[in-house]
Amino acid sequence: MSRSVRAVLGTSVVLGALVTAAAAQGASAARFAQPAAAAADSSRAAMQDLGRQLFFDTTLSQPVGQSCASCHAPAAGFRFPDSKVNQVFGVATGAVANRVTARSVPTVMYSAFIPKGPPFAHLQLAAAPPGELLFIGGMFWDGHAATLEEQATFPFQNPNEMNNVAHGMGSPEQVVRKLAASPSAEPFRRVFGVHVFGLPTHAIFADLCKALAAYERSEELSPFTSKFDAYLMGRATLTPEELDGLRLFTGTVDGKSSGEPWVKNAQCAACHGLEDDMSLPSLFTRECYANIGTPRNPTNPFYFMTDPASNPLGFNPDGLDFVDLGLGDFLYPLNELPPGNEGPGSDGNGDWLAANGSVKVPTVRNVDLRPSPDFVKPYMHNGVFKSLKEVVHFYNTRNLTDAGEVFDLTAPDPYAGLLGTPLWPPPEVNSPTAVANAQGFPAIEGGLVGNLGLTDEEEDHLVAFMQALTDGWFPKNPHAAEFLAAVQGP
Ligand code: HEC
Ligand code: HEC
Repeated sequence: MSRSVRAVLGTSVVLGALVTAAAAQGASAARFAQPAAAAADSSRAAMQDLGRQLFFDTTLSQPVGQSCASCHAPAAGFRFPDSKVNQVFGVATGAVANRVTARSVPTVMYSAFIPKGPPFAHLQLAAAPPGELLFIGGMFWDGHAATLEEQATFPFQNPNEMNNVAHGMGSPEQVVRKLAASPSAEPFRRVFGVHVFGLPTHAIFADLCKALAAYERSEELSPFTSKFDAYLMGRATLTPEELDGLRLFTGTVDGKSSGEPWVKNAQCAACHGLEDDMSLPSLFTRECYANIGTPRNPTNPFYFMTDPASNPLGFNPDGLDFVDLGLGDFLYPLNELPPGNEGPGSDGNGDWLAANGSVKVPTVRNVDLRPSPDFVKPYMHNGVFKSLKEVVHFYNTRNLTDAGEVFDLTAPDPYAGLLGTPLWPPPEVNSPTAVANAQGFPAIEGGLVGNLGLTDEEEDHLVAFMQALTDGWFPKNPHAAEFLAAVQGP
């Protein structure tokens, strides 16, 4: 991430902490300010309804016209709704013309279940070799916001998103002023009290983010109504293709962790974890971070957004040299080390947290939800891939050449002396410690990612299975409310 974007985000991190502290004060002040007759309706349902209205409110950006939903559109599975931009750029366009985000738009669906950040180290999860650290938790591709409430403070103030910026800093004042004049002001008063706009700016801003987070924790965004959920409940039969996809995804005959091994294992569930039955939510992510060796996205316009005069807070000072270190950009500074800490100046162990290039494992629920079959969705943190087939083919063949050779990404020059041509460009961040299965061990020997030995048909079956993860296959899942009750905020 560029230094100037980092500077802005750094400001917001501090603001995030402030508003969290202020939130409690704001809430109690609002209670005291209430005349009994006009008691605010701060029930969860009212808060979620308000949050929905705010999520779609296009008057809170600078210039006006961009809402959260402008980038996180329900019809695209709460991701970017412009097929052409997705195809060509892979990242999102901002409220200001000619500005883009550095990264692609992740889904907001099921984000209610992402554990609180900052990413913390776990020893020995299923996906990690013994003794290896796995980081869990936090919002954004690199976990740089702790909670949904804190996350919501960022897009309003990001120059490349909703752009409420003044005097070289993100400006909650600007957001709050717009909110007070917006169509959402009246519903906002109904939830937070008639005098809410008399509160200090930071308290109002905190309430705004609180309502957005409440919406994000509503059943609308985590309905658990895919064909796969119906299958888990014994109410649907998977097609032979979908069933084969489930078997490959999990490596077992019945798709359950304890099941008999299937003839092949694509090892997907190691990171995109699911549960054996409906007693626990299958989130299709273990909420951890990994570097799977995704190539850079050469058509990301962020590479060319290098003009400090037009965008002093959000330009990319590195130009074509921009490298997204993901977790390595956030976790090392958190430990008072330089971003991407390696070599001299480090503790001498290089990328010792294996953080560089690691990004959060996204859920694959609704990964195929799109408004029409020909609508393009971009995949991965930088939007480099444009179809699920391409994603699966990448997992299958990352370490292969067109001559069938397997190369080792930890070799000093992995591409030296090859007879064939590598099927994929090199990883954006080829950290020898962080890239999953950098050596390219075959999946039958336990290798995750890179050399899965799948046929073309089997790749299609994995896609078919992921297509069965689109919500809306049946109207309501009786378990959803109970799953969500466990993750409601304060
Ligand atoms: C200009 C497009 C844009 C707008 C507008 C926008 N977002 Fe995002 N959103 C993104 C991008 C890009 C990311 C990933 C950024 C990153 O990881 O650094 C993201 C990430 C998120 C995440 C993190 C999801 C996860 O899996 O960690 C949440 C939650 C979210 N946005 C909610 C919102 C809310 C709430 C709003 C409105 C206040 C909003 N977004 C407005 C583009 C946008
Ligand atoms: C080592 C952990 C790991 C394994 C194993 C794994 N994934 Fe992933 N998956 C990730 C990470 C991390 C990302 C995001 C990578 C990025 O943005 O560069 C991702 C991204 C994806 C995406 C894109 C989602 C999006 O929102 O852009 C899909 C689809 C996907 N994986 C499917 C699969 C399938 C199918 C398999 C099995 C063949 C699999 N994954 C195996 C970690 C893993």
